[in-house]
Amino acid sequence: KSIDAIFKGLGKLYFGTCADQNRLTVTANAEVIAADFGQVTPENSGKWDTIEATQGKFNFAGLDYLVNWAQTNNKLVRGHTTVWYSQLPSWVSAINNKATLTTVIQNHVTTEIGRYAGKVLQWDVVNEMFDESGGLRTSVFSTVLGEDFVRIAFEAARKADPAAKLFINDYNTVEKGVSYAKTTGMIKYVTKWVAAGIPIDGIGAQAHLMAGESKNVAASLSALCAVVSQCALTEVDIVNAAAAEYVQTVKACVDIPNCVGVTVWGVRDPDSWRASNNPLLFNSGYSTKPAYSALIATLGAL
Ligand code: G3I
Repeated sequence: KSIDAIFKGLGKLYFGTCADQNRLTVTANAEVIAADFGQVTPENSGKWDTIEATQGKFNFAGLDYLVNWAQTNNKLVRGHTTVWYSQLPSWVSAINNKATLTTVIQNHVTTEIGRYAGKVLQWDVVNEMFDESGGLRTSVFSTVLGEDFVRIAFEAARKADPAAKLFINDYNTVEKGVSYAKTTGMIKYVTKWVAAGIPIDGIGAQAHLMAGESKNVAASLSALCAVVSQCALTEVDIVNAAAAEYVQTVKACVDIPNCVGVTVWGVRDPDSWRASNNPLLFNSGYSTKPAYSALIATLGAL
């Protein structure tokens, strides 16, 4: 049984990974995804600098490829990501009035999410909007619109695809401990926004872990999951792919009823954004690593 099949047997929706056309056209890589994973997240093709590098000129080639591949291969898709301070074209960063930025966000979100309506399970509507002290990260969005950009983005997303679950995604929210300011800040803001009727369905915790951090995941993730209807680990990778740390991290999601799935951020080590850490489940020859076997052994026995 694959990890994805075991995950589904445990009541989860998927065990996924990220990819894009450059990975899906490598036969060995595509075969691993087809066999072991149930969901694909576009690693880069859904980002603003790819989708709308020039205002109003949309480039969906890469994201179309991934979504079509997913449909052909019967995989779910996590959409990533519409509103993010990084990979943001300079024409967006240069906007300095509220009305313009509101329309620009609405048009971007509506066009991207609307194109794939009915084909994407979850969207990271807003990515990495908090700073380490739990406040709003300084970006063109927060500077021009304050926290209102969150409502603008999520309302447009809901209209564009009423079936998709809408996520707010961030890092260093399960890594540092349940009292870490960014974790408590995210909880405080999301609780307030959900109460105010902003259509946020889920919290995504990226979980790019350093050594020794997996012990913090369970408590932090439960605290985050408690304030939304769904949650997920969205970009897992762990220094040296320590098997015990992988098991502890993934098990945290398994143990939380509304944690719907885990996504690891890539298939094989050399393709990782942090390749020097060898943080993934497959080695350069696409063979499984000890963390993979440990996951199968532990989860398969549940
Ligand atoms: O495609 C160009 C290529 O044409 C060019 O020659 C080359 C030279 O640098 O760059 C290529 O683009 C790179 C792209 O990855 C595709 O490989 C960008 O420079 C590089 O910045 C980009 O890095 C991505 C990074 O996000 C920034 O968008 C990583 O692949 C991706 O894994 C990483 O993922 C992020 C999540 O989206 C959000 N959370 C953190 C996570 C890790 O940083």
